[in-house]
Amino acid sequence: MAPSQDRSQGRTGGIASVAAPAPATFTGNKALQIEEPLIFEMGQPGRCGVDLPEPPPKSPGVKDRLNGLRRSGEIGLPGLSEPQVVQHYTRLSQKNYAIDMGVYPLGSCTMKHNPRINEKIARLPGIGDLHPLQPISTVQGALALIDALAHWLKTLTGMPAVAMSPAAGAHGEMCGMMAIAAALEAKGQRAARKIVLAPESAHGTNPATAAALGFTVKPIPANERGRVDLAALKAALGPEVAAIMLTNPNTCGLFETEIIEISKAVHDAGAYFYCDGANFNAIVGRVRPGDLGVDCMHINLHKTFSTPHGGGGPGAGPVVLSAALAPYAPYPWIVKDGETWTVAEDGAKVDGQPLGRLKAFHGQMGMFTRALAYIMSHGADGLKQAAEDAVLSANYVMAVLKDVMTPAFEGPCMHEALFDDSFLKDTGVSTLDFAKAMIDEGYHPMTMYFPLVVHGALLIEPTESQAKEDLDLFIGALRSLAERAKSGTAAEEFKAAPRFSPRRRLDETLAARKPVLRWRPSNSFKQAAE
Ligand SMILES: Cc1ncc(COP(=O)(O)O)c(C=O)c1O
Repeated sequence: MAPSQDRSQGRTGGIASVAAPAPATFTGNKALQIEEPLIFEMGQPGRCGVDLPEPPPKSPGVKDRLNGLRRSGEIGLPGLSEPQVVQHYTRLSQKNYAIDMGVYPLGSCTMKHNPRINEKIARLPGIGDLHPLQPISTVQGALALIDALAHWLKTLTGMPAVAMSPAAGAHGEMCGMMAIAAALEAKGQRAARKIVLAPESAHGTNPATAAALGFTVKPIPANERGRVDLAALKAALGPEVAAIMLTNPNTCGLFETEIIEISKAVHDAGAYFYCDGANFNAIVGRVRPGDLGVDCMHINLHKTFSTPHGGGGPGAGPVVLSAALAPYAPYPWIVKDGETWTVAEDGAKVDGQPLGRLKAFHGQMGMFTRALAYIMSHGADGLKQAAEDAVLSANYVMAVLKDVMTPAFEGPCMHEALFDDSFLKDTGVSTLDFAKAMIDEGYHPMTMYFPLVVHGALLIEPTESQAKEDLDLFIGALRSLAERAKSGTAAEEFKAAPRFSPRRRLDETLAARKPVLRWRPSNSFKQAAE
């Protein structure tokens, strides 16, 4: 490859960059932002970072144990030395934006700080080295830990039972809704109650969960205050309704002020109240969902209790359940038999009709440990303080920006500040352009175009983790962007954003329609490997 050629072309699969290219350098690097090739594009055939012994020759008379399937040619692994591998992956790791780098205002995600004490405790040998197949007698402390966390979750939510094993919020939704379906089945009502109600502002996982379980989803409109329209909800309730799936505080960042009336109406109609607890961080220590009439609720440990967001990986989404739904919780259950902890994994040891298993083993031990470390290091007062600070931060952002951006609803918010795009009207700048320009200012963009009930939504969740001066800088950047957008002279600049990132804006339509999902060897690579 010739020096100073724009190497980004290869990485984007030929997708055209909308903006003009930045000035070329000899290396293709931009200052210390290294233009990183794919690992398959690096190295030399035959180079190896380790000394491997030659495979032993086939002994005469021994039958080919691979049954003729032995590889006959090169498999095309990149030939790299150890430093090359280390440098490659270190450079890649530095391309990530992370909560440890700065403000991460992604609304509905609660990207809060993961305290290092959690990590330290999760790595203690007695915890980090556990194996889920160890004899129960050797993991008594781990079972006690799971039970202690369960106790905290029940206490903080005011609910009598909790299923610990679900692996994420969406998995918890599945667990809770399966428990509701099983309870309806036991009452002989499963066939009749086919409908699940979900507010228009619901997170996509709510209707997806209900639909995956065979329910029909009926949307409930929001009122002009961004809350569930109580009259519309009452009109939708009836003998065909199985449940409502409702987030509180909702995805507009607002507390459902008529929540008691909502839960009463749902129960009067013989339906269940599934609460999406993704936003529990805003009320933990202040409000117990059990007091609001919730029948079950998942808790995203990675949001409220600071375990790392798994990126689809090892998360945890325990589900708290009412006494009526508890018998339908999935296995396993941790139970204490005298002084000994045991794991109930079959019908002989538990009452009710459990759902069976939703997940291998007992749940995500590493996440349980981190969540308990967070809870115990904060204490009850600290948890409440964190919730209050998260709400204070969001209201600060909202209050300071409301003269230049347009809050979607009147009045104070909870943990996230929701703006619509009317402040960008007639500027030629869209929500997307605004978000891209935030990258140039050094910020991960907020959540865009969600919730759907707000036009061009910009949803900002600062969490309690940011120092005021960092929040002020962030607010200053947003204010300056809003003012520039409104000046009417900067549309082209916004359309070209991000201008300073290693990759410019991609043609998103082409990327969605013709995604390049697989690396294919170039001819030169194939020849070299041969
Ligand atoms: C309101 C809401 N519900 C459910 C979920 C799903 O949670 P998870 O990503 O843990 O599956 C999210 C995730 O962001 C959410 O914001």
